[in-house]
Amino acid sequence: MVQSAELQPGLFGLRLEMEPRLVQACEPGRYLMLTVGESSDPYLPRPYWVRRVSKLWVNLFVGVNGIGSRWLATRRPGDRLDFFGPLGLRLELPPRTRRLLLSGDHSGLNCLLALADNALASGVEVSLVLQEVDDTSARLAPPDVEILSALDADALAWADALYAVGDHSLVQSARTALRSAGSRIPAFGVPHAPLACGVGACYGCVVETRNGARLSCVDGPAFPLVDLT
Ligand code: FES
Repeated sequence: MVQSAELQPGLFGLRLEMEPRLVQACEPGRYLMLTVGESSDPYLPRPYWVRRVSKLWVNLFVGVNGIGSRWLATRRPGDRLDFFGPLGLRLELPPRTRRLLLSGDHSGLNCLLALADNALASGVEVSLVLQEVDDTSARLAPPDVEILSALDADALAWADALYAVGDHSLVQSARTALRSAGSRIPAFGVPHAPLACGVGACYGCVVETRNGARLSCVDGPAFPLVDLT
């Protein structure tokens, strides 16, 4: 690890140095499973969205909410971290996207910012609705991203694609907003699911869809919003 900083109370930004081939694989929507302790407590690794910031570095956000995240947040430059990944399927922009709308909360922020980076690099305009997030977090977004206050009909009329990243209720509210606005843009939800193994072995990350149960870790993390139940 090369850097750790407390961005706001309880939220840390970590910068990790990794092999270039691994950094290259840290596409939007992918995550690392990190060991969060020196003994077997906590036993399970924890998933963290990654955002590529150079050919050698990726950023993570760590919200401190337990002993594992506290341990991780207090690592220092020079410390080595154990992880596997990146895992998950890369989030793709639908063809011909020119105006991308992103919506999410604190927990999905790094995934949203990674998506925004890629979209901006392709000349796509990006607007971001941050729910239950304060101004400090909003300032972490690239300057070219417009921050909106609500996922409403105006925002949906502007966009030609949508990603919503967050807990089940946030993703469902995006689906409701889409339906209320009568919008037919390509729209995807990235619902949080408890990722214990990350490789399809534990069945802890089931996401219910109209096409049956799917595993977030191997089939996701994104699913068409209209398919989510
Ligand atoms: S995290 Fe274990 S099956 Fe998905």
